[in-house]
Amino acid sequence: MNDHVPLKKLHIKTYGCQMNVYDSERMVDILRPLGYEVSDKAEGADLVLLNTCHIREKAAEKVYSEIGRLREMREEKEARGEGRMTIAVAGCVAQAEGKEIMHRAPAVDLVVGPQAYHQLPELIARTHRSKGERLSADFAPEAKFDALTVDREVSGPAAFLTVQEGCDKFCTFCVVPYTRGAEWSRPVASILDEARGLAAKGVRELTLLGQNVNAYNGLDADGQESTLAKLMYALADIEGIDRLRYTTSHPNDMGQDLIDAHRDLPAMMPYLHLPVQSGSDKILRAMNRKHGRQAYFDLIDRIKAARPDLALSGDFIVGFPGETDKDFEDTLDLIRRVGYASAFSFKYSPRPGTPAAGMPGQVPDDVADARLQTLQALIIEQQQAFKEKLIGQTLDILFDKPGRLAGQAIGRSPYLQSVFVEDAAHLIGQIHKVKIIANSNNSLKGELA
Ligand code: 5AD
Ligand code: SF4
Repeated sequence: MNDHVPLKKLHIKTYGCQMNVYDSERMVDILRPLGYEVSDKAEGADLVLLNTCHIREKAAEKVYSEIGRLREMREEKEARGEGRMTIAVAGCVAQAEGKEIMHRAPAVDLVVGPQAYHQLPELIARTHRSKGERLSADFAPEAKFDALTVDREVSGPAAFLTVQEGCDKFCTFCVVPYTRGAEWSRPVASILDEARGLAAKGVRELTLLGQNVNAYNGLDADGQESTLAKLMYALADIEGIDRLRYTTSHPNDMGQDLIDAHRDLPAMMPYLHLPVQSGSDKILRAMNRKHGRQAYFDLIDRIKAARPDLALSGDFIVGFPGETDKDFEDTLDLIRRVGYASAFSFKYSPRPGTPAAGMPGQVPDDVADARLQTLQALIIEQQQAFKEKLIGQTLDILFDKPGRLAGQAIGRSPYLQSVFVEDAAHLIGQIHKVKIIANSNNSLKGELA
């Protein structure tokens, strides 16, 4: 027994998307056997890992100010005689700006891109031996997943599972094809193994992750290309797996078999994140989205025909270069016609190296700000209307954690709203029918049916 070995404290801070959340959990899993224990504060940590996001400028800039804060904490820690704090930068900023980070932030010990997380123990050990050697590494996804997904800790009945990484779409505003590389799908068997392991630990709901998840085409046991729909059927067969979600999808990759699965496979939740970004044909073309607004409407019609109770969420960008008031009106019109249960919206942020950053007609900040406000007000209105419509309905709720008051439990509706219910703490980890009785700010209130 080595119970005299003091545990080392690991603080990990995650920015950006759900895939980063998944990656952070895997990094914790792979560092745990080395004696690292998660600490929720950076203060006094032996290793601080920043899992960064490069999607918009603000997200990337946050990293540099955080490194400044950490440098001070490190000095205080060393002054207290508590040893060194290792600072590592992971994620998409690491991938995109590795060299610049080392240059701008000499306090950083290690820069590690998303394809090298399985090498973290070795990279960190090398950093320690050579005090400040800084390394970065490159794309090779398969080895990574094999090493990272064997023994996952679970934190509740709902879990993320990455099935696909990277993107070949090259939307003109987006850094993902550069930071996460080309589309790559994990083999079916490796995903099923991970899912079975999760189910055995009590996971009931899986959210399959990928930058372009519906382009999934991993190889099955016969060496044939699978589809996301086929993968869904195989996952739904696993004992214990009752609910399936997937995100993020591109409209052009919504295959007919996936649409049919929304009709035929009860495990598939009636909720779909299907970003369109803009409602203007001119802007969609300039964004290189490879479809127009009518094609999006037609697609939504087909999906709703298959699953009438399906609700949608989306992503929107305002202030893309060349966007006029008329283009923006087209986006508002699209939102009104589709009707979203929820949506994310962003002000266009020029990203270095992407085609749109050099396009003429960059939209002034104040114009983009005003458009963002208008769009967000419309989305909030739709979101509230959607929640109001649920009052009186009975929904299957997966309870995943205790609420603030004794006996209370909080769960998720099929449409991802959080629902709190009194006297339901004994149901945590289970799915139960709940009648929705009120809409309260950020969540819904329900009672056991
Ligand atoms: N500026 C603003 N928003 C962006 N997104 C991606 N790149 C940019 C950018 N350069 C948004 C898109 C995408 C979401 C994840 O982030 O809406 O769907
Ligand atoms: Fe970025 Fe477009 Fe790929 Fe989505 S589909 S990750 S927005 S390039």
